[in-house]
Amino acid sequence: MNEADSENIAASFRRRGFELTDEIKKADAVVVNTCTVRQRAEDKAISQIGRLRLWKEKRPEGKLFVVGCAAQKLGGKYLKNRFPFVDEVVGAKAIEDFEDALIAQFGPDGGAEAAHQNMFRSPQTAYVTIMRGCSLKCSYCIVPAVRGPAVFLPAGEILADAAAKIKAGAKEIVLLGQTVNAWRGGKTTFSELLNKVLALPGLQRLRFMSPHPLYFDDSFTALLAREKKLARYLHLPVQSGSDRILKAMRRGYTRAQYLGLLKKLRAAVPGMTVSTDFIVGYPGETEEDFNDTLSMVAEGGFTMAYCFKYSPRTDRPEMAATISGTVMKARLEKLLAAVKKNSSLVLNERIGKIEEVLFETETYGRTSGNFSLRVKAGGTPGKMAEVLVAGAEKNTLNGKVL
Ligand code: 5AD
Ligand code: SF4
Repeated sequence: MNEADSENIAASFRRRGFELTDEIKKADAVVVNTCTVRQRAEDKAISQIGRLRLWKEKRPEGKLFVVGCAAQKLGGKYLKNRFPFVDEVVGAKAIEDFEDALIAQFGPDGGAEAAHQNMFRSPQTAYVTIMRGCSLKCSYCIVPAVRGPAVFLPAGEILADAAAKIKAGAKEIVLLGQTVNAWRGGKTTFSELLNKVLALPGLQRLRFMSPHPLYFDDSFTALLAREKKLARYLHLPVQSGSDRILKAMRRGYTRAQYLGLLKKLRAAVPGMTVSTDFIVGYPGETEEDFNDTLSMVAEGGFTMAYCFKYSPRTDRPEMAATISGTVMKARLEKLLAAVKKNSSLVLNERIGKIEEVLFETETYGRTSGNFSLRVKAGGTPGKMAEVLVAGAEKNTLNGKVL
């Protein structure tokens, strides 16, 4: 979501004739887009802002913007007080107002259009935000507080955004939202929205991120089974394998329900891949709870998992960390090792199979299941091709275009 917001911010600058630069010395403006999902992210943002004091001293006419979730949490007053060289603060809840902050510093944009340009992924991938915020209340999570309750963008706006990005060269659209599959537009369901985006001419592949287990229905399963352009891949955060912890986290599902959902989807969509997020060291997590998380790795058949140490985010004292740093670290390492082992198993299962690959160069692309794949030759950038997988190395498959 932050990457997508950064894209939009960069586009606002480009409409005013600015270009991106890697050389901070040359920068006329710097935007720090901050995260606060874990304390470490917030600390990183703060030290980054601190380091910019030097840039501002050398370039007093340069403009410094601080935006995003940590900006929302800490507030403009606090940030400007602590870092008086900051020019503008725009919190995540008001990110649409970034344009106003830009006008305040540089004036209106003159109506120029900015070409689509993905700074984070391949240029042929475009993010399309379909919802903002989150209306769930997972006990550990600060997102609803800093981004606000779920707001769905209207289908018409979403389709116009996607169509414009395809026209500008995007081949792959990634629909974004904190609980992306909770999206609704009047009577239009998430599956119906996917159908409408899939019908846009020129689109090669559609992805979305991140869904929540609570919001899948049978119409989605049928759509995933039917539509080849819809990536057969889900990043579906599970957070824990222990029912006791899932309940404390207020995730709204049990381990069996989560696994049941995967089973149903995989029965309809053979070869579908799934990655996930785990939190270790949630307050009160016992060795038994943690073992349930460990066993979830193989049982879920995850291709990849982001694993995080629990980071207390609220002022509620009962949500303070209770697991010692040493135990937390040991559990994290154990989990990471299990994930690595399982990833390589899942990757090797692909050998001998045919994959749908969207090529980015003549020799590199991504499979529908989101694996990186290399061939010696024969890929057409921006086009889909079938590849027979011959081998796997680290996180990458290799094979031959059919
Ligand atoms: N501590 C650790 N990890 C967290 N996440 C969200 N909040 C916290 C927290 N307080 C993780 C979850 C989520 C991902 C984006 O960040 O796993 O899916
Ligand atoms: Fe946070 Fe995701 Fe839970 Fe929403 S669904 S509260 S964003 S972890």
